[in-house]
Amino acid sequence: MNTKNKISVLILMGFLAVTSCGKKETAPADQTETTETSIEGEAAPVTSTEENVLVIEGNDQMQFNTSELRAVAGKPIKLTLKHVGKIPKEAMGHNLVILQEGTDQADFALKANDAKATDYIPASEKAAVIAHTKLLGGGEEDTIEFTIDKKGSYPFICSFPGHVAMMKGTLIVE
Ligand code: CO
Repeated sequence: MNTKNKISVLILMGFLAVTSCGKKETAPADQTETTETSIEGEAAPVTSTEENVLVIEGNDQMQFNTSELRAVAGKPIKLTLKHVGKIPKEAMGHNLVILQEGTDQADFALKANDAKATDYIPASEKAAVIAHTKLLGGGEEDTIEFTIDKKGSYPFICSFPGHVAMMKGTLIVE
């Protein structure tokens, strides 16, 4: 997190340097805030605050790298889950399941435990699932697209058995 912050600051400073002594071009309109999900590995000099493009990572320590995602209502959301660990999915599987508002994460996860055949997405709870990625092992990633029209707070979890205690969060749609 710290290094990410530093990177953000560096990028911001670079941006200011360019705009202050560079030619007078109109600055991009969207220079508000860099979201914590926008900067990954290769530092992109241009802010990639593309609306509704979300990236979240899961690791071999059974953790997501954030417990909060933010998106805008009524527009397609493109969400990528990256498993940045090395352990295969049979032992350290990660998915990201976005649930309807008010869904009990622990209760859903309990039912998911018995749904190995469907990668821990229980058929009986389909109505509670807004969207979900595939179940991933180390080094894999999956991107899904979906739209949420109603503003609100949507719980998300990894539904692999035992992971919900550590791997859960909220998608805030504004
Ligand atoms: Co997991």
